[in-house]
Amino acid sequence: MATPSRGSWTGHLGFVLAAAGSAIGLGNIWMFPYRTGTNGGAAFVLVYVIAVVAIGIPLLLSEVLIGRSTKRNPVGAFRVLRGGSMWPALGWLGVAAGFIILSYYGVVAGWALEYTWRCALGGLGAIDSGGVAEFFGRLTSEGPRQVVNQAAVMAATAAIVARGVEAGIERASKILLPLLFALLLVLLGYSLTSEGVGQGLEFLFKPRFDELTWRGVLAALGQAFFSLSLGMGAMITYGSYLGDEERLVWPAFLIAGMDTLLAILAGLVIFPLVFSYGLEPGAGPGLIFITLPKAFLQMPGSGFLATMFFALVLFAAVTSAISLLEVVVSFVVDELGVGRAVASWGAGLLIFGLGVPSAVVPGFLDRVDGLASNWMLPVGGLLIAIFAGWTLKRDEARAAFRGDSGSDAGFDAWRLCVRYLAPTAVAFILLQNIGLID
Ligand code: TRP
Repeated sequence: MATPSRGSWTGHLGFVLAAAGSAIGLGNIWMFPYRTGTNGGAAFVLVYVIAVVAIGIPLLLSEVLIGRSTKRNPVGAFRVLRGGSMWPALGWLGVAAGFIILSYYGVVAGWALEYTWRCALGGLGAIDSGGVAEFFGRLTSEGPRQVVNQAAVMAATAAIVARGVEAGIERASKILLPLLFALLLVLLGYSLTSEGVGQGLEFLFKPRFDELTWRGVLAALGQAFFSLSLGMGAMITYGSYLGDEERLVWPAFLIAGMDTLLAILAGLVIFPLVFSYGLEPGAGPGLIFITLPKAFLQMPGSGFLATMFFALVLFAAVTSAISLLEVVVSFVVDELGVGRAVASWGAGLLIFGLGVPSAVVPGFLDRVDGLASNWMLPVGGLLIAIFAGWTLKRDEARAAFRGDSGSDAGFDAWRLCVRYLAPTAVAFILLQNIGLID
């Protein structure tokens, strides 16, 4: 019943790049390195990779499967599959999560924008007058400056989404993603030849399990969710623009692989440089905004390097912001029959407004992030796993894969993961949130 005006990818390459663009974002370049830093390094990386394979990929497949077989936004998808039940409410939860996450995501992306243009115009000196930490402190406490940057990011996001699935989202991903990899490779050239490379590699790849806590394990799991854009129907939405004849299994592996590779490469850029200059890897959220610039400052060509790095962060953030907005826009287009351009600019404006408190009220951003990352995404992910594993009958799921599940063994493994493994793992996140386990 696909409405012809919904749009679709030009092929699986378009889908893979757009979905990888969604997955690769602030989660990879900002959160993954700082969480790795505060959770014991390599042990966290190892748990993260296991979480991606055992829980992330099965859930990603479930979302894309639901999208491809219904050709609808998250609310519409559950209406098509199980209308008249409570399941469409899960779609609503996803649309709401899109609103909330993008509201503060735009603010953080705005920080990257501010760093990029300042470094481009004035070199790192432009942010270092008075110290990097002070610069970051001032930026994040000055409401108006953050709001201007956030507005610019949101406007770019709305403009891309307004142009449509193929001419907007797919095209932007096809330009920004290769650019992002290119920037990363140049930066890797610097970090891998720096003095701290040995220490950086050891930090990322030689696990010290004594530093890994339960909290760290669950943080890795939550991180995998966020990084793969799971739990709110973003991948249902992107999957809905896939033709029935389009494959979904190998693209899902490729998307997850690129996302994980990028997180690790970001770590490979950041940690060797941090160690080269004797800085602190466990600095927390300030790692790329304060610690890393301090390392850049001591290197020749620092302004150029810093500009490249923050442009990389910005591009990654924009392709992710697009997917967050697209969830809301696809809902408005499918369900309310509003035109795409109006839906994009309207939703963009609304979300921008919702994000203003994250920019001006101290502590607000962390609180909304907590609500989305600790509650909405895990609850969404839990329910999507239950839906795919328990509500879809075996034959129904098999048919939805359309013979693309590979062997019976592959299909059974997927089903085992979404029926038992994923719900159990996510339940632990929720138990920890309500304080039942530490
Ligand atoms: N995955 C993105 C990142 O790593 C963020 C993101 C985009 C997202 N769309 C999402 C997170 C949907 C959760 C759900 O930065």
